[in-house]
Amino acid sequence: TGYITYDEGFGNTGSCQSEITYIDGEVGILRYRGYPIEQLAAKSNFIDVSYLVIYGELPTPTQRKEFSQRLTKEAPIREGLVRFIQGFPRDAHPMAVLSSSLNAMGAYYPHIASNNHKRDLEHFDEAAAIALSKVRTIAAHSYRVARGLPLNYPKPTLGYSENFLHLMFSEPYNEYVPTPEVAAAINLFLLLHAEHEQNCSTSTVRMVASAGANLFASASAGVSALWGPLHGGANQAVLEMLAAIHADGDDGSKFIENAKNGKARLMGFGHRVYKNYDPRAKIIKGSFDKALDSLGITNDPFLDIARNLEAAALSDDYFISRKLYPNVDFYSGLIMNALKIPVDMFTVMFAIGRMPGWIAQWHEVAKNPKSKINRPRQIYVGPTPRDVPDAV
Ligand code: CMC
Repeated sequence: TGYITYDEGFGNTGSCQSEITYIDGEVGILRYRGYPIEQLAAKSNFIDVSYLVIYGELPTPTQRKEFSQRLTKEAPIREGLVRFIQGFPRDAHPMAVLSSSLNAMGAYYPHIASNNHKRDLEHFDEAAAIALSKVRTIAAHSYRVARGLPLNYPKPTLGYSENFLHLMFSEPYNEYVPTPEVAAAINLFLLLHAEHEQNCSTSTVRMVASAGANLFASASAGVSALWGPLHGGANQAVLEMLAAIHADGDDGSKFIENAKNGKARLMGFGHRVYKNYDPRAKIIKGSFDKALDSLGITNDPFLDIARNLEAAALSDDYFISRKLYPNVDFYSGLIMNALKIPVDMFTVMFAIGRMPGWIAQWHEVAKNPKSKINRPRQIYVGPTPRDVPDAV
């Protein structure tokens, strides 16, 4: 069978060709379809960036209108799917609910989830709108169901982020209207998470798609991968780490020592590709003070600990020599916390943000007539041949 190259964790394997995202991890560059993330964050919004990631160009006014109309039309979910979500135990993790519901959703749209890429692609615009719009509704419904709260229905008049906040936080007696700063913070969070080339969840989406599976099955697998604490689950883990440090009466210095001698891992630090500041972390950190100001938060003990951890790590040889810098998850959890998003919803927020990337990557696989099934090899290290013993 020839010589097999072993590349643990695929650190040096290019698994596909892609036109979507460019990263230079040594310098800290991230571009979607050629546009620098800094410019998109400053001048665009999550919906236009989703369009860009999925279709390759920023939308014209007409395309923007049509895309928004499709998202609005697809915002509600079927009653059967609502009952599916209501069937989970109250303490189910919302990532489990999200992953299962996304896969189940394919059952409601057999014409776009046929597991025949050619046929599924005939309805791609509809499928993309369904995935992008309904992921947010499923997420908010799972939050409300877990707390025994009545469900809210999406409002056609609201923008994407405002609608998400309404679905989450409106009460029958009190409609939730976010301040522009809060809606902008959610929008920025989602935009910064929209796509990130062959990370663990996106590689999973492509892996599943490579066998011919439909968009919903592939995205559902992506959610499962994202849940892990080394990947999207890190934003939840960061906040839990800060809470534990705070409860311990530590200012962060004890924790840094533990991280250096292998007793703990500094969550929100380090990245497989970025050996420099994660550009997304820079942007989030930059907008952070503004968001906190608008929320009237002047004194957050977790924030003080986070700042101590960052300062200590950036001046310590252990972290410097390993090129460990803050990643996007280091500050994003603090913003979500300030916005009163519950900790177990942080990774769900990441999944909502990443949906355009998964859709675009699925599309690249599905539309390529030369796509091959992904099937890595292995290095066998098990027993040499042996005989099953006679029965005793
Ligand atoms: N705290 C302490 N030491 C660390 C950390 C950390 N966060 N990250 C890496 N190291 C050490 C690691 O122990 C190893 O040391 P040594 O060479 O002495 O054995 C060295 O740095 C290289 O680490 P690695 O584990 O081989 O690196 P990797 O590329 O396999 O892992 C990572 C990348 C992101 C999984 C890892 O840095 C990590 O676990 N970070 C914390 C979790 C986290 O924040 N994840 C979010 C990533 S960004 C968003 C996303 O993709 O979801």
